[in-house]
Amino acid sequence: MTDMGITLISTIAELKAATSTLLKERTGSDGGTLGLVPTMGALHAGHATLAAAAVAENDVVVASVFVNPLQFGDPADLDRYPRTTDADLALLDSVGVDFMFAPSVAEMYPHGEPAIRVTAGQLGELYEGASRPGHFDGALTVVAKLLHIGQPYNGLAATGDAYRAYFGQKDAQQLVLVQRMVADLEFPVRIVAVPTVRDNDGLALSSRNRFLSAEERNSALVLSRALRLLQERALAHEPLDVDSVVAMVASATGVELDYLEVVDPATLAVRGENCQDTPFTGAALALIAAKVGPVRLIDNLPLG
Ligand code: PAJ
Repeated sequence: MTDMGITLISTIAELKAATSTLLKERTGSDGGTLGLVPTMGALHAGHATLAAAAVAENDVVVASVFVNPLQFGDPADLDRYPRTTDADLALLDSVGVDFMFAPSVAEMYPHGEPAIRVTAGQLGELYEGASRPGHFDGALTVVAKLLHIGQPYNGLAATGDAYRAYFGQKDAQQLVLVQRMVADLEFPVRIVAVPTVRDNDGLALSSRNRFLSAEERNSALVLSRALRLLQERALAHEPLDVDSVVAMVASATGVELDYLEVVDPATLAVRGENCQDTPFTGAALALIAAKVGPVRLIDNLPLG
């Protein structure tokens, strides 16, 4: 069977009309819930898990596929970003997504780059933001726009209960920033966080993993190993001895460590207490970023 249940849509007007019609059809009322899954395509099992969670919890599901120029600092990185539309459509169809919204750059930014943007503030300058200036402003700006585009009932009757958007824990800083944007600016949507999906060997799935050679992929495993070591120590309430884990990653061949930090899960502030020699208590998030071969990889694990 090649018949697909999914519909590919490329304009904002068509998407709004199609989601309203299908919500009415499915629920027989003016109610129902819509799930939105924002992505940049090159989809893998991590994205599929987000989409499947949205399908399980909502009457109608939209996944967006848009490689957002605003969040790329380096034009070469933007050009190189993989585009796999047919495979993306098939994957989203296989988990039961109703609409794949894949707009052009001109559809999203008809007047060129938007004059008015969302700024992530100081939280956007830490960690990933430090090495990718402007990245989170660009990501939040497109997420704000996508959240408005996907909002059911043309905004008339939508509440936080009628509208959910799905984001991966894999991009922990992005997730915190989106949650803060939605809270600070009162977006009528509930953000649902989905745990990181990994390969059997522990490597977090990423659209960029395809650029790793077999050898580099093997080197990259030190990231998840380092996080697991911290998690084991935290669960046992042992001292984390973060310095020793930093040294382990820093000495791995082919791996250029950018940062390894234990932070507060809500504020992302570096946790000063009980991360070195004293027994670990409470909750935290361990964040890591490193360059392996040509690829910058990020990962994280909750501690405690
Ligand atoms: P992208 O990198 O395509 O990721 C889309 C969503 O999939 C994000 O919420 C991300 O956290 C989630 N994801 C990626 N890998 C995952 C994994 N291994 N396990 C679980 N979830 C995973 O993030 C973006 O796109 C963009 O910045 C976007 C939010 C779409 C704005 O342009």
